[in-house]
Amino acid sequence: MTKSGTATEPTRVRQMFGAIARRYDLANHTLSCGSDFYWRKRAADMVASWRPGKIVDLATGTGDLALAVQRKLPDAEVTGVDFLPEMLELAQRKGVRKTIVADAMKLPFPDASFDCVTIAFGLRNMENWKDALVEMSRVLRRDGRLLVLEFSLPTASIVRTIYRFYLHRCLPLLGSFLTGKKSAYDYLGDSIEEFPSGHAMIDLIEASGFKHATLQPLSYGIATIYTAQSL
Ligand SMILES: C[S@@+](CC[C@H](N)C(=O)[O-])C[C@H]1O[C@@H](n2cnc3c(N)ncnc32)[C@H](O)[C@@H]1O
Repeated sequence: MTKSGTATEPTRVRQMFGAIARRYDLANHTLSCGSDFYWRKRAADMVASWRPGKIVDLATGTGDLALAVQRKLPDAEVTGVDFLPEMLELAQRKGVRKTIVADAMKLPFPDASFDCVTIAFGLRNMENWKDALVEMSRVLRRDGRLLVLEFSLPTASIVRTIYRFYLHRCLPLLGSFLTGKKSAYDYLGDSIEEFPSGHAMIDLIEASGFKHATLQPLSYGIATIYTAQSL
């Protein structure tokens, strides 16, 4: 399951996100035409419906999902985790109350510490997806909730063709214009192609310490919310 491409090596991922940190939000909102606000809102609504008391948002980056959850559940404890301090600094400035610098592959929390683990657009960048999911299940209490928001490939062939043209032809140019780092956006398209989508992702989640995995495609399947419960 470990991916072979050099782009997913942790050092490369750190360098890439470190280089675009200051422009990350602008690029995100522009390149998704604002859809990322709606995707995170849907994810936060789902988390809120579970009424968890302790939530950890992994690969929290500039904190947009952590913030959306924090607003929906003001009494809950929401912890944002990322291995890049510069990303967490931006998250704190935006209002994420609790942040911890840590590698999601090896979390500094005891077993069963949380009611809910969330991760948005982060799992795809990890060096081993299954090991990362197993680590998430470790820090979740029994029957705790997992929510993964990730890019996926639309299933309808016409939409997929148009999306792939945007992903591989337009997005690297726009991303380069907004951040000055074309390679990060070449990587984005390649990593989306490589990452398991739809039922392949359900199988991966259920093979990694979770049960009752579900999926909810968003925006014609450009992104998908996966949920599950820990064993
Ligand atoms: C695409 S950003 C997603 C940020 C945010 N969750 C969002 O929805 O915009 C990916 C983030 O994952 C972080 N990251 C990647 N691998 C990580 C790991 N192994 N441990 C912790 N953070 C990681 C990067 O530093 C980066 O901030």
